[in-house]
Amino acid sequence: MSEKKVRVAVNGYGVIGKRIADAVAAQPDMELAGVADVVSDWRIRVAVAKGYSVFGSTPEAADAMRAGGVRVAGTLDDLLERVDVVADATPKNGAAANLLRYRAAGVKSVFQGGEKHELAGHSFVAQANYATALGRDATRVVSCNTTSIVRTLGALRAAGLLKRARGVLVRRATDPWESDHGGVLNTVVPERRIPSHQGPDAQTVIPDLDVVTVAVVAAHTISHLHSWSVEMPRQASRDEVLAAFRAAPRIAFLRADRGIVALNSTVEMMSDLGRPRGDMWEVGLWEDTLSVIGSEAFYNYQVYNQAIVVPETIDAIRALTELEPDGSRSIAKTDQALGIVRDFVG
Ligand SMILES: NC(=O)c1ccc[n+]([C@@H]2O[C@H](COP(=O)([O-])OP(=O)(O)OC[C@H]3O[C@@H](n4cnc5c(N)ncnc54)[C@H](O)[C@@H]3O)[C@@H](O)[C@H]2O)c1
Repeated sequence: MSEKKVRVAVNGYGVIGKRIADAVAAQPDMELAGVADVVSDWRIRVAVAKGYSVFGSTPEAADAMRAGGVRVAGTLDDLLERVDVVADATPKNGAAANLLRYRAAGVKSVFQGGEKHELAGHSFVAQANYATALGRDATRVVSCNTTSIVRTLGALRAAGLLKRARGVLVRRATDPWESDHGGVLNTVVPERRIPSHQGPDAQTVIPDLDVVTVAVVAAHTISHLHSWSVEMPRQASRDEVLAAFRAAPRIAFLRADRGIVALNSTVEMMSDLGRPRGDMWEVGLWEDTLSVIGSEAFYNYQVYNQAIVVPETIDAIRALTELEPDGSRSIAKTDQALGIVRDFVG
């Protein structure tokens, strides 16, 4: 294994950025050079308390941080001088200007799913297309829902068990820390467009997927639920379908008959397992609910939206910087460093 450590910056220390920062710090082959943001409140103060070097994403933000008593190491431009790659987790649709800034500094960049495929010209899910990201200057880790779709349908496809797939997505209304900002209360809001964007977005990673998604937003904050109906090219047994999921990385089984009956059960279990922030990086797929009728498979799974893209971002960093040429080895390194499992019910 190479001794070289890749130096990483995180720009945007919010829900996703703070998790990426911790995940980078946990990798033996990466060094977190610093995090940048525009806020001066508790969020960035936590980064200082954790011992991370903090930078203002703009000169004004750095000044405001200093004025507010935050220990600031400089501006984003100073941080970019010290790194090989930046993970951009700024709010969606704001990254086009950032990409120019990163390129001007000669720094590679990984964006998140709020951005369009066209921004980087490459969309990433490690198990599907690590190799095509090798050495690129930028990629986009697809959104939480899209990541789960590529992981699960990619698994069925690899096993020759996928003809077409139709999924209903019950989305969380907002992230827990933002529940005071507003949200959906005591209702369910169907998205106005069918197909919803997640199916087409999955095709940015696997172009020939026959997939349609329908999405609704529900009045809860704790993660998304997907319910899928898959037509297979032939009749298959339940065991074959389960084996296909088991063979793929980052899909872990849940069981209702062991008390994991709803999204909140899993959230509680992740906390009890001592996971950072109660995160579930895996797709949590209900093993005992999965059923096969002839050549059709039906199953439900949970997407912990705040965490699922974090391991993919770590792999994207390795791919862009060519720190690890082999995707499955990168996945194994990331999973070991984070504590990702194949089964929660053991
Ligand atoms: N929240 C989720 O569940 C989730 C899941 C998957 C992907 N994503 C994607 O991740 C990206 C980030 O989303 P998030 O939920 O972490 O957002 P967030 O609002 O929680 O965090 C964004 C952070 O960026 C900071 N910021 C704002 N403007 C900035 C600027 N100009 N320069 C630097 N920092 C700036 C904000 O202060 C905040 O700390 C988006 O593309 C989003 O679509 C979010």
